[in-house]
Amino acid sequence: MREKWTPAGWRAKPAKHIPRDYPDASALAAVEQQLRTYPPLVFAGEARNLKARLAEVAAGKAFLLQGGDCAESFKEFHPDNIRDTFRTLMAMSVVLTFAGSRPVVKLGRIAGQFGKPRSDETETRNGVTLPSYRGDNINDMEFTLEARTPDPGRLLRAYAQSASTLNLIRAFANGGYADLHNVHRWMVGFVADSSQGKRYQEIADRISEAIDFMEACGITPESVPQVRHVDVYTSHEALLLGYEEAMTRIDSTSGDFYDTSAHFLWIGDRTRQPDGAHVEFARGVNNPIGLKCGPSLEPEELLKLIDILNPANEPGRLTLITRFGADRVEAGLPRLVKAVLKENRIVVWSCDPMHGNTSMTATGYKTRSFDRILSEVRSFMRILPEEGAYPGGVHVEMTGQAVTECLGGAAAVTEEDLSSRYHTHCDPRLNGGQAIDLAFLIAENLRGARINGRAARTGS
Ligand code: PEP
Ligand code: CO
Repeated sequence: MREKWTPAGWRAKPAKHIPRDYPDASALAAVEQQLRTYPPLVFAGEARNLKARLAEVAAGKAFLLQGGDCAESFKEFHPDNIRDTFRTLMAMSVVLTFAGSRPVVKLGRIAGQFGKPRSDETETRNGVTLPSYRGDNINDMEFTLEARTPDPGRLLRAYAQSASTLNLIRAFANGGYADLHNVHRWMVGFVADSSQGKRYQEIADRISEAIDFMEACGITPESVPQVRHVDVYTSHEALLLGYEEAMTRIDSTSGDFYDTSAHFLWIGDRTRQPDGAHVEFARGVNNPIGLKCGPSLEPEELLKLIDILNPANEPGRLTLITRFGADRVEAGLPRLVKAVLKENRIVVWSCDPMHGNTSMTATGYKTRSFDRILSEVRSFMRILPEEGAYPGGVHVEMTGQAVTECLGGAAAVTEEDLSSRYHTHCDPRLNGGQAIDLAFLIAENLRGARINGRAARTGS
């Protein structure tokens, strides 16, 4: 039996990747106190709805699409960027729903995805060593001591940016932009003429025809509101626990604690120690929770974490986000799946094909090969059913923009191209075209899995 949970209980545990070099601890405490008085960004009821949708994913009845920036930034904060991420998520879900024949749960890595765990505490350039950049809610990317010193005021700015980002997402989702009649508009301009853009247009044409047909039969947006609205949820890594604690509130209807900074929070691969602060925090909030599972996670440790994070084996509570790398997934993933199935634990299995496939170019760019990304997804989509489980989702770093950050894809981004539009504040993202390509690949595999009819053991 674990001790009683409180939102501040994590403070007594060892915490990795939380900065300790704020120059003025009382200024940080004052900001956290101020955040406690701010409105919640999401409602507990919405987090419960998402949990119910994720329970459907766990049961093999829906597919989870989670995506967005590696790190949101103050610099890239712009309505066009939010719109393009939103419509790329919408276009990917159209492909997955139509070609993959599954309802899609849409979960943005957005409206709060700022803080980053860094492999190195410091960065050295030309003999000068400074603290690493940790995300715009902590410090600034510019390479000066002043910019790299953590500033608590950034938390308030990140809260404000999250609030207005979420406001625009809610407006898009409910105000008409996400109406299925707009299916042709969700393809970002630079992709429209490419091969995957044309494939998308074909689907969009067929959907438009189907809508016309339904309307002729009297099924209109007035009678079926699902045609006009979508549910889009938000998520980020629960890394900076002072912020998460300040956003944690008791829900008056259930009496339970919810972290109201996002609908879904996940624990990173570097901060998933069973006795550490991040696991301690996550176990007490009732939101649906994600857990990154990388090559160093042993099956026994995973079961221990599942016991802590989902002791009641509640469907939809826990999503395991696997991130092995294309050449390690074959060896690493089956062991985890076997252990979870043997103990009858209900989870969503989702594939993050990004974080195990990062490399550096000779010219110093952090990049990812699109082929390796596709290869990890393919392995995931094959291994899960082979083991008797359902491949339930994908977790990607992506943007709607025409960036050149990942190598390859239909537009064949080369190493020489990387410098032309490399805008990410942390890891390389799929651009709008690569994201649609990936959606088609998943859809083909999902459909295949269904037609081949291999019985997947699920939560129901
Ligand atoms: C991330 O998703 O941004 C991340 C840092 O991933 P991981 O914890 O899997 O390395
Ligand atoms: Co990343």
